Amino acid sequence: LNNGLARTPQMGWNSWNFFACNINETVIKETADALISTGLADLGYVYLNIDDCWSSTTRNSEGQLVPDPKTFPSGIKSLADYVHTKGLKLGIYSDAGAFTCEVRPGSLFHETDDAESFASWGVDYLKYDNCFNLGIKPEKRYPPMRDALNATGRTIFYSMCEWGEDDPALWAGRVGNSWRTTGDINDSWASMTTIADLNDKWAAYAGPGGWNDPDMLEVGNGGMTYQEYRAHFSIWALMKAPLLVGCDVRNMTAETYEILTNREVIAVNQDSLGVQGRKVNVTGTDGCQQVWAGPLSGHRLVVALWNRCSKAAIITALWETLGLESSTSVAIRDLWQHKNVSGNAVSSFSAYVDAHDCLVYIFTPLTLSQSAI
Ligand code: GLA
Repeated sequence: LNNGLARTPQMGWNSWNFFACNINETVIKETADALISTGLADLGYVYLNIDDCWSSTTRNSEGQLVPDPKTFPSGIKSLADYVHTKGLKLGIYSDAGAFTCEVRPGSLFHETDDAESFASWGVDYLKYDNCFNLGIKPEKRYPPMRDALNATGRTIFYSMCEWGEDDPALWAGRVGNSWRTTGDINDSWASMTTIADLNDKWAAYAGPGGWNDPDMLEVGNGGMTYQEYRAHFSIWALMKAPLLVGCDVRNMTAETYEILTNREVIAVNQDSLGVQGRKVNVTGTDGCQQVWAGPLSGHRLVVALWNRCSKAAIITALWETLGLESSTSVAIRDLWQHKNVSGNAVSSFSAYVDAHDCLVYIFTPLTLSQSAI
């Protein structure tokens, strides 16, 4: 969507994956504080997004949405003011249907009123869900909220969540700043790998202004190992997915913190070229030894060696699968070790990868004169 936002994928936090409906204004404020104190905000995680369950079960007598008086007694405006003083942005949630998935009022046929409420509260981001949609096609239900947000005069990030129902990559570039390509992620290896594969199909349709959204991060929620979470974060970064943290950032382990704050991997996600990397080669049993790669600015490439097998393996990236001439010499940077790999590589590069781990590199092709040195 050409509203000036999402030149790179959005980064921030969302309440759903960890808190689900157990949210209140104290949790949101403490999360704002934690995004600052942990340094996550400085790394780019600036959207603080409230998901489902913030609203009362009924509209007021004027037909407007109202925050749940028990959990958000100070209102959304006061929360927006609080997060803005910290340099963060506030996101909220509604639904392109009669109700949200947790049966709060939906915004279908209330687009103008609700967009005006969000804008008047100082909201910066809307996630717009797909429950209770009355069987009306997403192509009909999502543009009215785009137009209503636009009409408020406030610039609001528009995150479409129609679960990939109607292949949104094919049409949502003119409607939203990102669109979910799949159903909900859960905190498991099986879910994460399945979703990565589903999202890969739409790589050609992502770019500055509009991104494929394979759902939010589960890093730090406990259902995957360190290696699996590292793979999850690596592949989401490479796929130019939104990086929306989904754990309790007030209580992160050192490992969770290390993954979410990897500046070099974040820089891959936020690279100015804005091209979604993809699965470029598979070998091994059931294709479990995988190479994912994509172009970056400055003629560089990001290359991930992802071992989805149950045993450690040596995985090889062949230049022909990366679109490089076999004679090209490349310098290699390891983004998890934070080290340059010694010596330049020609025609292929191999590494030993633990089960379910994912190693990520930046390849910088050297010019003839540089490689001769
Ligand atoms: C749907 C969405 C999720 C989350 C929940 C909230 O399932 O896909 O991301 O927003 O609703 O109820």
